[in-house]
Amino acid sequence: MSGQHKINQRAMVGIAAIVGLAAGAAVAQPIGDVDAGREKSQACIACHNANGVSDNPAWPILAGQHADYLVHVLREYRSGERVNAIMNGQAQGLSDEDIRDLAAFYSAQDPALNVVRRERSRR
Ligand code: HEC
Repeated sequence: MSGQHKINQRAMVGIAAIVGLAAGAAVAQPIGDVDAGREKSQACIACHNANGVSDNPAWPILAGQHADYLVHVLREYRSGERVNAIMNGQAQGLSDEDIRDLAAFYSAQDPALNVVRRERSRR
């Protein structure tokens, strides 16, 4: 009985190691194509700027944001789960691949230090 138990434990350790490796590989894999994302971001420049750092506080900075987060939120805008008239419209035409490429592009951009100017913070 105790011998059987040991074997099971070893098998569990082995399985855990394999699962761990697979998870590691998945994390290391890019979420989308940065260059394709740059191309697809033409429609977003007007508000989020070419580098994802907008200069209007009403438009969130996308540069350096976690790719997972960007994928998640763009899917939510597309499905209407997250409600914003502008972004619901923007996300409507995006495929899953577009979303992954856009997320890869923005997450790869330099987030840059954004200091909100005093005039703006007083509003
Ligand atoms: C007309 C202006 C405009 C355009 C064009 C636009 N956005 Fe936005 N975006 C916004 C605004 C405003 C918000 C904040 C909405 C909210 O509060 O949910 C936002 C939010 C976002 C967010 C969520 C950020 C966060 O921190 O949660 C993402 C991601 C995003 N936009 C991506 C895009 C992408 C990708 C495109 C191009 C396909 C695009 N946007 C085009 C105005 C714009």
